[in-house]
Amino acid sequence: MKQLIYASHAKPNITVETVNELVAYSKETNRVLGVTGFLIFNNQFFLQCLEGEAEAIEAQMYKIKEDTRHTNIKVLGSKRIIRKTFDSLAMGFINNENTLKEIITRDTNKDTFNPHHFTYDEALHVLLSLSKVM
Ligand SMILES: Cc1cc2nc3c(=O)[nH]c(=O)nc-3n(C[C@H](O)[C@H](O)[C@H](O)COP(=O)(O)O)c2cc1C
Repeated sequence: MKQLIYASHAKPNITVETVNELVAYSKETNRVLGVTGFLIFNNQFFLQCLEGEAEAIEAQMYKIKEDTRHTNIKVLGSKRIIRKTFDSLAMGFINNENTLKEIITRDTNKDTFNPHHFTYDEALHVLLSLSKVM
């Protein structure tokens, strides 16, 4: 199996409602493909981890990269995995800057949520920490 993490910039008109709809749709598609993961949205950025069979991840990424609801899509990396970290596709909408700041200072050596500058491991830690508090 494969795990992939990417960061992107949300288009300015994207609201949490749009993202909720997107996640509801994605959960269904991902379930059929056996893809799981976690998506963080903070009004400005997306950070998403996807895991599943390599072909399924590549197919999803191909569509996600074409999506006009975000720009500057940067794949932070991918790796082969034996076990999944996330059980389903969930989303964490984070509008509490303090919680995010706390997690970022603990899990990375940065002090702002600018996921394009995270290393793969930093991004994974932040995604995991947030998935636990959501
Ligand atoms: C930040 C972001 C994350 C997304 N994540 C997923 C996802 O995990 N799974 C999925 O099927 N679509 C996801 N989408 C939606 C796809 O880009 C695309 O709109 C959708 O798969 C359309 O599929 P269809 O053309 O087969 O209907 C995401 C879109 C954005 C902007």
